[in-house]
Amino acid sequence: MCGKLTKDTVQVNCDNEAAEKGSYPHFMLKEIFEQPRALRDTINPRINEEEKKICLGEVKITAEQLKNTDRVFMAACGTAYHAGLIGKYTIEKLAGIPVEAILASEFRYNAPMLTKKSLLIVVSQSGETADTLGALRLAKEKGARVLAVTNVVDSSVAHEADDVIFTWAGPEISVASTKAYVTQLAAMYLIAGHFAELLGTVSKKEIADLVIALKNIPDQVAKFLEQKERIEQIEQLAVSLAANENCFYIGRGMDHPVAMEGSLKLKETSYIHAEAYAAGELKHGPMALIREGMPVIGVVTQDHVHEKTISIVEEVVARGAQTIVVTYEGDDRVAKTAGGTIFIPRTAPLVAPILAVIPLQLLAYYTAVHRGCDVDKPRNLVKAVTVE
Ligand code: AGP
Repeated sequence: MCGKLTKDTVQVNCDNEAAEKGSYPHFMLKEIFEQPRALRDTINPRINEEEKKICLGEVKITAEQLKNTDRVFMAACGTAYHAGLIGKYTIEKLAGIPVEAILASEFRYNAPMLTKKSLLIVVSQSGETADTLGALRLAKEKGARVLAVTNVVDSSVAHEADDVIFTWAGPEISVASTKAYVTQLAAMYLIAGHFAELLGTVSKKEIADLVIALKNIPDQVAKFLEQKERIEQIEQLAVSLAANENCFYIGRGMDHPVAMEGSLKLKETSYIHAEAYAAGELKHGPMALIREGMPVIGVVTQDHVHEKTISIVEEVVARGAQTIVVTYEGDDRVAKTAGGTIFIPRTAPLVAPILAVIPLQLLAYYTAVHRGCDVDKPRNLVKAVTVE
């Protein structure tokens, strides 16, 4: 039996409630703090804690169909694309299926090799993004199967896909996506685990480890958000970051898409020109931009590349960069190397992207506030890009 989503039934007019910021100054901060609940609502009904299994009954693709799939594509935009990249890493690692992650705005124009045996996974909070819908419709035209992850039940993506996984983040008002994003990540892990179970590509223990990690992650996010001293530390770091016009984010492996998401959050809320790079790429050119005082935000949660990422942090520190690194509690090596360290609870590296993004969301939020930006409605942006 899958986990039950037990909730007290309280009759509320969700439009009013969702439209109220409550005690929060901005929707973005309210939605950052709603993430533990959003994750529990998305994960718990889809894991069987006793049997340590994934329960993704809404995905009807059979093991046979999956075995006969010739290619798996992942198409999304912006923050949803960063979730798709984590999906790529995780599906490849657990299910052993190669996944081609392509920006939805590029997908249709790069003549993707779609056939009747292909599977397209689309990720979209609104379910109305024109480029993502375009990718979905092209795949359907070619006879491919489409699996959608979306936060809006009555959306075009939900109606037109073959299988739909709803993220139960609740209405997301701020243009900058936070709670929808982390629930998209959760959906990626659930899909990867479900595919691995269908194909028998992982042991019962590996699936059990994933189920336990997913079960624990909402509480770990809650624990981080409850640490007032941590939030104050991030706000202090944001005060100095707010004085800059440029910033680098770096990471390796799955820390790289996390760095990309942190960079997008900062760009779209504070208008600072932030760039994310695979840490090993800096030496191939971008290192020329590192100068005294340049902010570099590092993400170090992937154990297998821990030392390699730290050595890049050491290189930029040696060139005068102001570094802030997100890493696990107790990582003294990072604490000794970086100018500032934001510690997150130790978790399985596979699901660390859910936890590691939280400080980056808060860093972007407080930086934008200190720069006097319109946090919930950034200039030039809309919540759903329904035109190309
Ligand atoms: C997220 O912070 C951005 N506002 C934006 O990149 C967004 O993720 C993108 O437009 C995709 O939107 P969707 O998830 O509704 O398709």
